[in-house]
Amino acid sequence: MSEKKDVLILAIESSCDETAAAVVKNGREVLSNIISSQIDLHTLYGGVVPEIASRKHIEKINQVIEAALGEAHTTLDDIDAIGVTYGPGLVGALLVGVAEAKAIAYAAKKPLVGVHHIEGHIAANFIEHKDLEPPFFSLVVSGGHTHLVRVKDYGKFDIIGRTRDDAAGEAFDKVARAIGLGYPGGPKIDKVSKEGNPEAIAFPRAHVEDAPYDFSFSGVKSAVLNYINGCKMKGEAYSQADIAASFQKAVTDVLVANAIHAVEEYQVDKFAIAGGVASNSALREAMKEACQERGVKFYYPSPIYCTDNAAMIGVAAYYEYRNGTRHGWDLNAVPNLKLGER
Ligand code: KG4
Ligand code: ZN
Repeated sequence: MSEKKDVLILAIESSCDETAAAVVKNGREVLSNIISSQIDLHTLYGGVVPEIASRKHIEKINQVIEAALGEAHTTLDDIDAIGVTYGPGLVGALLVGVAEAKAIAYAAKKPLVGVHHIEGHIAANFIEHKDLEPPFFSLVVSGGHTHLVRVKDYGKFDIIGRTRDDAAGEAFDKVARAIGLGYPGGPKIDKVSKEGNPEAIAFPRAHVEDAPYDFSFSGVKSAVLNYINGCKMKGEAYSQADIAASFQKAVTDVLVANAIHAVEEYQVDKFAIAGGVASNSALREAMKEACQERGVKFYYPSPIYCTDNAAMIGVAAYYEYRNGTRHGWDLNAVPNLKLGER
């Protein structure tokens, strides 16, 4: 019997407000990447409503999977394994993807590979950077997470720093709401910051004592709220663009400072950013410059692979599959799943 060369993964992602499916070949080539975003729906409420997210996932998931298989010109017969995000995320949202993946894997007699959402975000970097291989360091910045991660090998991680309170993306979203930009806040702050002065207001840069790689963003968020309230009480006008740009600078300064501290301390030569906030233009620029100055190769995914998608889950699932990870029919959604846990 001739050995089958290509490994095709059908991947499913439904941890928050995107219903997504993708087909990935040999862990690096995306044959299809279908994303049905619920952003317009949740914008009405100023944030993600978990109940609505779950219901929308159940409505869309079959169409998204059919489209992913169709666009990749594959059928379930060609697929080697089903990869699915099983945590962390919104439990009701995760359950839709997990139940779907189990049903398909069972009916089609394919192996099931559960994937950690953050592992997926990091793996997004493998899609466009064929030369990137572990070991490297990664800063994962999303709506729910801010992690500084040492990627020791495929599927092997040490978290060396994390946020003590708000995630970076969460801070962007909350500040955007406070200054009247609405949801989703990150991209809006990024855009309006281009018209503002990042040095206009000195918002605090928090460093956590005795934990040089940890983050804290609740202070800067409160400082923005206090600043706005102060202006209102004095009857003074404030500039939305200056607040946005100064806030963005305060957050990115801390992200870059901690990342570079790790680069120097651990003598890192490759650094990759990941997650929704990795789309932020100021963060990309600042990290690129800081890495270049130190001769460190810097990687970041295109925006489509920064935000939640299933292609990144397919990449992570491929490496997990190769490492022998298989999940049983008892796989469940784990809303607070830790990186590196099985
Ligand atoms: O990774 P992601 O799509 O979902 C989670 O896993 O959380 O990240 C979404 C987060 C949101 O908080 C959004 O405001 C933020 O990423 N975000 C940005 C930008 N684009 C998305 N934050 C700053 N600048 C951006 N350009
Ligand atoms: Zn995410």
